[in-house]
Order: sequence, then C-alpha cells, then structure tokens
Amino acid sequence: MSLTVVILAAGQGKRMRSSRPKVLHPVAGRPMLAHVLDLARRLEPVRICVVVGHGGDAVRDALAADDVEWVEQREQLGTGHAVLQALPQVREDDGQVLVLYGDVPLLPDAPVRELVAAGTALLTARVADPAGYGRIRRDAAGAFRGVVEDRDASDEERAIDEINTGVLAIHAALLRRYLPAVSNDNAQGEYYLPEVLPLAMADGQVVHTVCTGDSGAVLGINDRLQLASAEREFQRRCAEALLREDVTLADPARLDVRGSLRCGRDVFIDVGVVVEGDVTLGDGVRVGPYCVLRDVSVEAGSELHPFSHLDGARVGADCSVGPYARLRPGTVLADRSRVGNFVETKKAAIGAGSKVNHLSYVGDATLGAGVNVGAGTITCNYDGVAKHHTTLGDDVFIGSNSTLVAPLAVANGGFVAAGSTVTRDVGEDQLAVGRGRQRNIDGWHRPGAAGPDGKGGH
Ligand code: UD1
Ligand code: CA
Repeated sequence: MSLTVVILAAGQGKRMRSSRPKVLHPVAGRPMLAHVLDLARRLEPVRICVVVGHGGDAVRDALAADDVEWVEQREQLGTGHAVLQALPQVREDDGQVLVLYGDVPLLPDAPVRELVAAGTALLTARVADPAGYGRIRRDAAGAFRGVVEDRDASDEERAIDEINTGVLAIHAALLRRYLPAVSNDNAQGEYYLPEVLPLAMADGQVVHTVCTGDSGAVLGINDRLQLASAEREFQRRCAEALLREDVTLADPARLDVRGSLRCGRDVFIDVGVVVEGDVTLGDGVRVGPYCVLRDVSVEAGSELHPFSHLDGARVGADCSVGPYARLRPGTVLADRSRVGNFVETKKAAIGAGSKVNHLSYVGDATLGAGVNVGAGTITCNYDGVAKHHTTLGDDVFIGSNSTLVAPLAVANGGFVAAGSTVTRDVGEDQLAVGRGRQRNIDGWHRPGAAGPDGKGGH
C-alpha cells in the first residue's frame, strides 16, 4: 500500500522563546525537522508533505528538497486543522497517511514501521510525568476509546500515564471521510487530530494503538530544557554505536557528534571532542581532549594532541598535530609530518616528514618532504590586495622567526637564517640571510647610567 507522510511543523513553539522557528533548532547540529525528514525518507513514501506556518519561509529555505511538498497553514487552529491543509495533496490512490511532528526528532524507526503495518493506529507511550500531554482513554476491557487533551481532562483522566505521542497512521480514505467532521468544541477551541479516531470507530472502523517503551525518544520538544535532553539522548545513542564498533571513548558522555564520524579499528577519543560535518579517523588514530574536528580525515596511526582545531583538513598517516594547533581549510599533511603548538595552517600542503613545530603561520604554501620550519615563522601571503603562494622544496630549513614574503620559492636544500625577512627566491642549497648585520658597540652605557667620567651615558 502506498504511503504519504505528513509532517506538522506550523506551530510557533512559544515555549522556546526564540525568534527562530522551533523545528529549525538543531539537534546534533541539524534542524530537528531534518531528522524527521530522514525518518520519513527511510519509509520510502510516495510523497512527503510538510505543513508550515510560523516562520514558514525560513523553514522552507533551510530544508528545501525535491522530494518535499510544502503546505501552508496560515492560522494554527490545531493539529487536525493542520492535516486538513495537507489533505488536497493526498491523492485518491494514496493508501495510507502517516502523521509525524516536526518537533519529535529522535523517533526510532521500529515503532513507526509497526504503526504503518497496523493500518489505522496511534503511537502511545507510558511516561513518568504525563502532564501536558493528551491521555489515552481506554474502557474497562482496555480497548482504546480516544485521546483527551490535558486541558480538557478530568482529575481522574490526568492520572493516566499512557499518553498520545501524536504519531498516527490512518487510511487516506478514512482521513478524508472523518477529518472534516472533527469539531473545535474544546478548552482550546482547536481542531484536534486524534478526534478522527473516535469518529472512525463510531462508524465501525478498527483503530489500533502501539505503545512504545522507549518513551524519552517519542516525546516532542517544546522548550530548551527538552531540546537539551534530546541532544543528550542523541549523543548517548551515537556514543553507544561507536563503542559497539570498537571505538574507545574516554567518556561516552563527553563526546559530541554533530555530523558523521567513521572510525577504523582501535581508535581512541578522549573527553570533550566535538565532531562536525564528515570526519573519518583511520586505524589507531588517537584524538586528545577538547579537539574540534570539522570535515577532517585522519589516516592510520596519527595523533591529534589536546585542544587542536581542525577544519577542512586532511592528515596523513603517523602524523602529530598539536597541542593547540589550528588546521584551517585546505591543509593537507603528508605522512609522518608534524604540526605543533600554536601553529596555524591554511591551504597548506606539508610534505612527508616535514615539521612546523612551534608558533607559526603557514598559509597558501606548499612544503616538500623533510622541511623544517623554525619557531615563529610566518608566510606573508597577503599584500593587502591579493594572496600569494610560498613554495619550499625538499629538505629546506627555515630558521626561527623568519618572515617569508610571498610569492616566494625556496629550492631543495635551501636554508634561511634565523630572523630573516626573505623577499627573493632562494636557490638550491643556498643560504639566505635577510637581516641586519649585528654590530657590537664597545663602552656603551645604558641611558641614565653614570659613565666612567661620572657624567650620564652618551
Ligand atoms: C499534541 C497532541 C497531544 C499529544 C502531544 C504530544 C493534539 C490535539 N494534541 O499536543 O495529544 O500528547 O501533541 O507531543 O494533537 N501544529 C501545527 N499546526 C497547528 C498546531 C500544531 O502544525 O495548528 C504542529 C506543531 O508545530 C507541532 C505539532 O503539531 O509540531 C504538535 O503541536 P503542539 O501544539 O505541540 O501539540 P500539543 O499541544 O503538544
Ligand atoms: Ca508539543
């Protein structure tokens, strides 16, 4: 049977107290609605409709995709009213409609698939604190009778700990028949979607419920407290999956993955690491505490020391990075190279076995193999108008505190004396000295100090 997924995302999310539409608040670095769309896509529906209202343009812009149809709900008159807006998108032959909420980003696949398989069914959960949710009413025999919203519930009903998650599957034909008949005669004056179920049942239709045990994951996010616990829940699942893949985590509660992380064997990740975008760590890679890795690949045996920040960088095998290194986009480290503390690189290819160990800036540069860049070296890549390139051949030695004014090339074996400002290319095996010659002045007296004649210094 074909499936249409309708995702409700028109609500303002007042309790977030935010100018940003609720469904755009991120969980694991992506809008909550993106997670819901992922789930919808995994079900392979014939179409996905997202109902937007508050901040609809921003939501559409953020999540534009070919396979999503956007439906506008101008006034938020309730979940039933929201689905009604999407009804014209549901074609006659669309067998079943699944309603998801844009603010339930951690919903697992299994109970949703069970719901879809059940025909017309509502996903419920047992929770410790049911306050605020719609409660599931059952008769003495335990048969489902309907949902009563918190604000409409009697004290007795408020004590019910089985709640409506909001996720509902229904045959399209039944939705079309009963949804327009739902009234807004209730405490909030809203059209409640779950009201279609008693209407259908009164007509002899069979309605099932699926109760999930995983209650934390099926609950919607209404405020920042719940957003934070959803984030923790996501990260907990992610860390668990990594541990099962044999990655060692110093503390599974102190890793944040906001993107995809693929690891080889025997990877070790210390505390406080943040992963963003696509990150790949090869066999035996060790990541020190508080590293931030965004769109990075690291090959086998390399070690990232504490507090290093890598963004858009490729690190070869058996390299050493940090502590306190900053690798910016376009950095490529060949095997066995080393980038040490307080070194910044950008668009820099560092050759095999080369070292930039201390306090340097290497930008727009290509370094050969076996290069040594001394402490405090700066590539002056920018003249105020354009960026220029620095090329260092194999086995080049740059003495400490040198400024390499680009465009510049130092050929293989070239040597730059410490403290040089180098503005002209250096040939193979040449020594470049680009600094004032030292003078030592005899009999000098410090200003203010008495000279040998008893007078002040010269
Ligand atoms: C709803 C359910 C409640 C359930 C709870 C689970 C109804 C009437 N109530 O209550 O039984 O326990 O979810 O979290 O269905 N939305 C729209 N347009 C609207 C109203 C809402 O798109 O006019 C969207 C919201 O953006 C949100 C979802 O529907 O994604 C749920 O709306 P919300 O106002 O949070 O419903 P609750 O009152 O929490
Ligand atoms: Ca809600």
